[in-house]
Amino acid sequence: MESSDLYDRHRAVLPPWVPLFYDDPLEIASGTGRTLRGTDGKEYLDFYAGVAVNTLGYDVPEIREAVERKMRTGVVHSSTFYLIREQVELAERIAAASGIDDPVVFFTTSGSEAVETALLLATHHRQSQQVIALRYAYHGRSFGALSVTGDRAWQAQGLSPLRVAYARGGDKRNGGMNTLDDTAYVHACAQDLREIIATGTPERTAAMIVEPVQGVAGAVPLAPGQLRAYADVLRQHEILLIADEVQTGWGRTGRYWGHQWHEVTPDLLVFAKGVGSGFPLGGVVGRREVMTSLPGASVSTFGGNPLACAVALATLDYVDRYDLPAHALAMGELLRETLDAHMKDPGVAPLRGTGLLMALEFADELSGEPDVPRAVRVQERCRRQGLLVGLGGAFKNCLRIMPPLTVTAPEVRQAADILAAAVADDAADRQGPLAPPAHSLD
Ligand SMILES: Cc1ncc(COP(=O)(O)O)c(C=O)c1O
Repeated sequence: MESSDLYDRHRAVLPPWVPLFYDDPLEIASGTGRTLRGTDGKEYLDFYAGVAVNTLGYDVPEIREAVERKMRTGVVHSSTFYLIREQVELAERIAAASGIDDPVVFFTTSGSEAVETALLLATHHRQSQQVIALRYAYHGRSFGALSVTGDRAWQAQGLSPLRVAYARGGDKRNGGMNTLDDTAYVHACAQDLREIIATGTPERTAAMIVEPVQGVAGAVPLAPGQLRAYADVLRQHEILLIADEVQTGWGRTGRYWGHQWHEVTPDLLVFAKGVGSGFPLGGVVGRREVMTSLPGASVSTFGGNPLACAVALATLDYVDRYDLPAHALAMGELLRETLDAHMKDPGVAPLRGTGLLMALEFADELSGEPDVPRAVRVQERCRRQGLLVGLGGAFKNCLRIMPPLTVTAPEVRQAADILAAAVADDAADRQGPLAPPAHSLD
């Protein structure tokens, strides 16, 4: 009763373009570890982590302690016009981890604001408003970030402050290139980029912005070597490479940064989400020459706020102490193996993604067309069985799976069990009484 009342109030006062999951939307009351409790009185294993934000899970003593320590000072905000010790320490740490030569860091409050900053810097530095992005990319909801978002469903509206051309992402099926092997595909993509630069854009292009694994598109990794091949082409034209690591950062893909799978060093690296353990924090780390090129002053009132930075330092300590990138890789593989072994359904593609940034895609087994209703149904079934997963993908037919990086092997097996049962039960329900019994993972 209470949650439907809240839903009515939500609908009355919030805009309709803010989507909610589930027929009966869920209100979260509390959480511990990887378990959330709803105001519906039920417990849920969380495999969505607040959209890849809650890196460490819930009720983490180290995070509580960092927050309480800061609260005890009585000051959680001072503005960037004063020195902020935690901000400087965090900047030093991110600079060192970035792999970028002589790096400088700027903090923001969100991924969108960080993308916006990278675009501001790149367009000014290169004196060009031309940017190249990837098809199906998602880069946020501010004006510039929307322009480089290659998914119409998330573009919100069609006007743009930038000129944007779109290159190929990692999904070979788009454009019917699925018959190519990785080497041939990467070659074709690099050639396509050369052609975009030669004919489809003005003489000077500012930057190319790339998610190493396209998260909102449905955890689509770039093909092996694709980013390296793109970087080689860009370097010939002095076009800057911006790595958007908002979803892929802090170990989620099994390496500290997603771009490290491709042995490239970006000129600018955009981060947010998982660094703040739920406290709003984002930023850009990049080459000094680019980062310092703005002629005017520019500040973000809340960017690098002392509380968020204190939490981020505690988060990164934890990530390092427990080697969460390696753990994410191992848990991602366990989930893949468990599901691959037990879920044989012609309408479900093998689990896709890298580390713990994953997606399960549903398509009609005969036509291959995206099966959006099935993805929605399976998400609802998972919820009923106590598992939270996201919904999305370029064609909205994917379950998005990205638990906190602290997830344990028994939790992974439990989630795989629920997912496989939800898929099988859904198939059985549609086939009627002659359907084979749903299998279990025991
Ligand atoms: C790759 C990527 N870039 C940018 C953003 C925007 O971040 P925010 O929602 O914090 O503005 C997102 C958000 O999902 C994202 O996935």
